[in-house]
Amino acid sequence: MLMTKVITYGTYDLLHYGHIKLLERAKALGDYLIVGITADDFDRKRGKINVQQTLIERIEAVRATGLADEIIVEEYEGQKIDDIQRFEADIFTVGSDWVGQFDYLNEFCKVVYLERTQGVSSTELRSQKSELRVGLVGESKVINKFAAESAHVNGIRIVGVCTKMRENLDNKLAEVPFITDNYLDLLEHVDAVYILSHPSKHYRHIKAALEKGIHVLYESPMAMKMCHCEELQVLARRQGCVLSEGIKTAYSTAYNRLVLLAKSGKIGDIVSIEAACTSLQEIDYSDKASLALTWNSMTAWSPTALLPVFQLLGTEYNSKLIVSKMGDEENLFDEFSKLTFIYPGAVASLLVGKGIKSESHLVISGTKGYVYVPAPWWKTEYFEVRFENQQENRRYFYQLDGEGIRYEILAFVRAIEKKQHLNIATSISEAIVRVMEDYSEGVDAIRF
Ligand code: CTP
Repeated sequence: MLMTKVITYGTYDLLHYGHIKLLERAKALGDYLIVGITADDFDRKRGKINVQQTLIERIEAVRATGLADEIIVEEYEGQKIDDIQRFEADIFTVGSDWVGQFDYLNEFCKVVYLERTQGVSSTELRSQKSELRVGLVGESKVINKFAAESAHVNGIRIVGVCTKMRENLDNKLAEVPFITDNYLDLLEHVDAVYILSHPSKHYRHIKAALEKGIHVLYESPMAMKMCHCEELQVLARRQGCVLSEGIKTAYSTAYNRLVLLAKSGKIGDIVSIEAACTSLQEIDYSDKASLALTWNSMTAWSPTALLPVFQLLGTEYNSKLIVSKMGDEENLFDEFSKLTFIYPGAVASLLVGKGIKSESHLVISGTKGYVYVPAPWWKTEYFEVRFENQQENRRYFYQLDGEGIRYEILAFVRAIEKKQHLNIATSISEAIVRVMEDYSEGVDAIRF
């Protein structure tokens, strides 16, 4: 007798009644059921983010139903066709939420869409579990980007915004239930805040949140003074709150891979890091009030530029020099700054600017070869490792969705759920604040 093989795919996060009904009916379509379970990485690419269970846990849950004769892992786009041919599947089936989307498989086997069970989904279970009420504070338009990116992360909801410039909120964010210009009012409504206010306000904003037991994700730098940075870290620990450094690059896959690769010794000893971050912004130097609220070149860009330096060479440099070209007499805005850090055996040279434009790449040089990341390196999907012998050169490509912001938000949520450590060490947050303080105080700094 000929056996009918059925194949079906899904994430099966927090296995629920709807999944079991689907698997039962899929099994009833034939004699042998193969279940493909989506790997975490593949899920991320399709936009499913914050899957709660690991791949192993999801496999175990499906196995425990006793309905699958065979379980496989779905890892790449186009795999379904491969699997159908390899297993000689007769029927491909999924729930009716996918109607039409798999018709292209009709060429290889019969496609059956089964009625989806009403009233239950993993998405719903995830958000019931831990919906974090998040408030946003700040005047910059980047706040809209953050809000749009947060929609990709399950388990959080933007409930309020504190801003003095409502005109900068896009239509979607303007619909948020609670909009105020009083920060303390905002804190009454939230479990966590994302702080994008001007860096001179970070200390006050972070402190007020932590005092109320509210978790904080702040756009780096944490503060402008070391004593404030230390005080906030003690406070966060005492209150059991997450205090997370927001540098989106730290959450980009390509960036993380190149850091690991550089640390692995593949390019030998690291002797030099060269990084530039520039973006032109029109500045009205006569409007002192708004100038005081604008992120200057140092605050806007140096945390990102410093990240690879501190991650690869450590935070214990021997000496540094910050040379800044100022755009105004009050020294509020540096058109650009050049930063040099000298380490035992290595040197780092950075260029950050909002008043100039330059090639914004990253080059990490070693005794055997170098890593080259093209501009704009802080949101790259691509890098190369190059050697004297060009035949040894390698290119690496990793897809980056949402410039890393959604993964930064995800890591923050996971840290609150105590499931994941943060990507940026506190020693790095501190070292960034030290650079800010020295720049403001004119220590190791020259202005012209
Ligand atoms: N399914 C179903 N009825 C439900 C939920 C899911 O029949 N109420 C089916 C889906 O159509 C799919 C399989 O179960 O064929 C696996 O679905 P999956 O995407 O893992 O689960 P969802 O609950 O739909 O997850 P999410 O909410 O994250 O989309």
